[in-house]
Amino acid sequence: MPVIGICFMLLFKSAGWQCRQSIIAIALTERRCAAIGSSSVAVVHLFEPASGSTVTTNGHKEFKDPEVDQVQDEYGNFLFSDDGTPKIIKEDQDYYDELYNHDGTRKDDTWPWWLPDDATYLDHAGCTLYPTSLMHRFTQDMTSNLFGNPHSASPSSMLSSIRVEDVRDRVLRFFNADPEHFDLVFVANATAGIKMVMDGFRDLPTGYWYGYHRDAHNSLVGVREHANSARCFANDDEVEKWIAEEDEDTTSTSARLFAYPAQSNMNGRRSPLRWCSEIRRSKPCTYTLLDAAAFLTTGCLDLSNHEEAPDFICMSFYKIFGYPDLGGLIVRKASGDMLTRRKYFAGGTVEMVLTVGSTWHIKRDGVHETLEDGTLPFHNIVALGHALDVYTELYTSPRNVSAHASALAKSAYDRLSSLRYSNGAPVCEIHKDSLASYDDSTTQGPTVAFNVRRPDGSWLGKSVVEHAAIQHGIHMRSGGVCNPGGTATVLQLSPQEMHHNYDAGQRCGDTNDVMGGKPTGILRISLGAMSSMEDVDRFVKFMKEWCVKQDGAGEVPTVPVHLTPKTGFLKVKIMHVSGAEKSKGFRYMLKNITSRSLVA
Ligand SMILES: Cc1ncc(COP(=O)(O)O)c(C=O)c1O
Repeated sequence: MPVIGICFMLLFKSAGWQCRQSIIAIALTERRCAAIGSSSVAVVHLFEPASGSTVTTNGHKEFKDPEVDQVQDEYGNFLFSDDGTPKIIKEDQDYYDELYNHDGTRKDDTWPWWLPDDATYLDHAGCTLYPTSLMHRFTQDMTSNLFGNPHSASPSSMLSSIRVEDVRDRVLRFFNADPEHFDLVFVANATAGIKMVMDGFRDLPTGYWYGYHRDAHNSLVGVREHANSARCFANDDEVEKWIAEEDEDTTSTSARLFAYPAQSNMNGRRSPLRWCSEIRRSKPCTYTLLDAAAFLTTGCLDLSNHEEAPDFICMSFYKIFGYPDLGGLIVRKASGDMLTRRKYFAGGTVEMVLTVGSTWHIKRDGVHETLEDGTLPFHNIVALGHALDVYTELYTSPRNVSAHASALAKSAYDRLSSLRYSNGAPVCEIHKDSLASYDDSTTQGPTVAFNVRRPDGSWLGKSVVEHAAIQHGIHMRSGGVCNPGGTATVLQLSPQEMHHNYDAGQRCGDTNDVMGGKPTGILRISLGAMSSMEDVDRFVKFMKEWCVKQDGAGEVPTVPVHLTPKTGFLKVKIMHVSGAEKSKGFRYMLKNITSRSLVA
């Protein structure tokens, strides 16, 4: 059978096998394109929606669709197995098996069926899983419509502009944010949103004071570098006291910015959202930046009361919906001019610019109009519209996601806390904040941060555990997780110790797991909307079987090899691997010798 015929056959296998399943169709087509060259052009139009009907001829299934008559005439000699399913060559059988159940029905259209069966994905705080149906819808939309660069009058451009504004409005409503009081600025990611706030404040004539909570992600911490002065609040008490304190200088017009994460990306601890309104009431000229990146993976943000809301809220949509890779900065319009007075302008943010003979310009009006530099990631914004639809259809509301993920996290926490070695020593030291409880989703998100001890109480290296997890198909995170204050606090690492570790060679992401008798980083599992109790079971089983039964597994010596004394070093890890594990271990070693390690 001609290759192209097989492709069509796959496309029209059944009424359920419609062209809306276009993502795999495109994958197939892409493969075919390479093989069949220009004849593949005929395939492309078949990805339009088609309402197929099924008839039976001579005991075999055949598929008729008025829109594809021509194709059937030309390539209609479909072959079928005895059970009525399409007979396909081995190469395509693998695709077929991946996509379809034995009875020929499409595997769940929502579940990320592309995940290998043995994969246990526990890094939702990194990026949550994207539903298959979201990818299908987006692909279908992209291959049915022409989206041009916004800002022109052409139909393709107008279509993009309309979609962008529609999605902007819908995102605001997703958070119950009235567009009269809030605006959404599309940015690359949460970090870009934070930087946009910083850019506004650094351009103020009087500069700014910056306060940030210990649990801040590095992307928030970096804002201190442009501040006139900055303070890191070491705990909640310090924040509460500062809020309650009377301002010494009530006449100062110098701006202040206080930033904190709604949820720590390190241990999932959730901070009080009320701080934003309290600061507005008690501190003149003080603005709040809420980093909602980790929180929104499963948390509910309700901005219906604009007077109590943070001034600026940054987020990464891929953490909420899995896709697209896009960020947002929600700005309370009453505070918008703190950002719109920034000096920089770009294509898309100005009404007129003079260059030759004069350096005058006039900016556009409005918050997002003044801040969205250059061409918007409009295709990603189109995808975000589908992400909102699919999310609402699947989960109805973030509240359901929150309840689901919290229940799983509580189970993981309870079970990991109770794991014991045969001598009664605990396996895990869990870094739960003392103010948080896994029974209360206002104080704790579905993340468990921990370190592993050996039976004698000494530390088992984080990368040793992570490596074993990888071999068991477990996707998790380890290290300082870009949260220097939170990690240093739970690991009781003083600034002096961290300087010392740095001087001794420790670098972000390396395998210097334990230095000076203390871990240098943590292990983290995080759950999301698509997590299941089976994921938790599998992880606990891994911990039981790997950590508990292999009591001595942690004796992994490390041999540092200095390439050049000052500029870099390469660390070679000697692993205890045996038999079949050996080749895997070797691959892992090679993978870990990154170009960064070698470039010195
Ligand atoms: C709390 C928090 N803030 C900021 C970020 C940075 O997000 P992005 O890398 O999408 O900019 C992250 C990422 O994990 C995060 O968890």
